Amino acid sequence: MIEIRCFRNDDPPKLADVWRWADLGPAAMQPMTSSLLEACVFSKPYFERDGLVVAVDSDRVVGFAHAAFGPTKCRSAIDHRVGTTLLVAVIPHPAQEVIADALLERSEAYLRSRGAEVLLGGGSAEMRSFYLGLYGGSDLPGILDSSATMQAAFQRRGYEPSERIAVLRRSLSGFRPPVNRMQLSIRRNTLLRVIDEPARRTWWEAATTTGIALRRYEIRTGTQDELLGSASFWDMQPLAGAWGVQAAGLVDVAIEGERRRQGLAHYLLAEAMHDLGQEGITLMETHASATNLAAMKLFDKLGFEVVEYGTLFRRP
Ligand SMILES: CC(C)(COP(=O)(O)OP(=O)(O)OC[C@H]1O[C@@H](n2cnc3c(N)ncnc32)[C@H](O)[C@@H]1OP(=O)(O)O)[C@@H](O)C(=O)NCCC(=O)NCCS
Repeated sequence: MIEIRCFRNDDPPKLADVWRWADLGPAAMQPMTSSLLEACVFSKPYFERDGLVVAVDSDRVVGFAHAAFGPTKCRSAIDHRVGTTLLVAVIPHPAQEVIADALLERSEAYLRSRGAEVLLGGGSAEMRSFYLGLYGGSDLPGILDSSATMQAAFQRRGYEPSERIAVLRRSLSGFRPPVNRMQLSIRRNTLLRVIDEPARRTWWEAATTTGIALRRYEIRTGTQDELLGSASFWDMQPLAGAWGVQAAGLVDVAIEGERRRQGLAHYLLAEAMHDLGQEGITLMETHASATNLAAMKLFDKLGFEVVEYGTLFRRP
């Protein structure tokens, strides 16, 4: 008899065990431990035990699903109107599909009880409440195509693809920024500032990136010190450590609206990539919505290649 209940304080080692045995795909941190879960999940200020639902079969924890919310528009609080089930993990079990379905159903009931009007499946740059560094790489990419078992669980419950998220990578070995007239002109007229452990700009950014090594590159006008844009990277730990690479994950890049299409993002990222490459970083990863044409073309121009796609699901 399978029992579905919410998280208890003595669950972490059992959940780490489920994570190790479940088929989460190659982009899930392995081997999982309770201390990693503590750092990336339970210690978050918005962790709610009712949102982490656990399946138990004769005293053995056999699966879990984790429901969560994203930020309000101003990123100063949680927005309960949109909820997501970030992950569904079940160990190999004769009733594996039944357990996954029951976990999802319970997760949805929790999200609705907290006010959710929209139900998503998977995390994203917006919904990165938990598991950054434990699943997906530089950010949460929905549910990756390489996590077929998890994708199937959402599809069985009627979820449909809402957004395709591209995982893009580029080797930094020997990377040199391009030298042309535009780049030289930008270099002459702007200042580049490198900030390690920058002050987090919003409550949500602080809540989701505290404890990770963040570096921000800012591009400013040479004369007025006006901010033109910025790009933020982190070291993608612990996943990158498990992969055995020195990696940098680009979590955001943005250029001020009226300054776009002047080569600034290309210059900023190329300079940052050169700088990080000089420090021994060999791999850069970033994610972009497949419909974000500007971002996809920018990364293509910088030599990134799509290595995989993830899907952010939505329940109609
Ligand atoms: C994506 C973004 C950072 C690009 O900044 P930018 O300074 O305008 O980009 P650049 O001028 O350096 O353009 C470099 C290349 O990117 C591509 N590109 C940039 N904007 C584009 C657009 N609106 N449409 C199509 N291609 C675009 C082009 O290939 C361009 O090269 P080209 O000018 O030789 O054609 C900017 O549009 C932005 O801030 N968007 C909002 C935030 C965002 O979506 N970030 C990415 C995901 S984190």
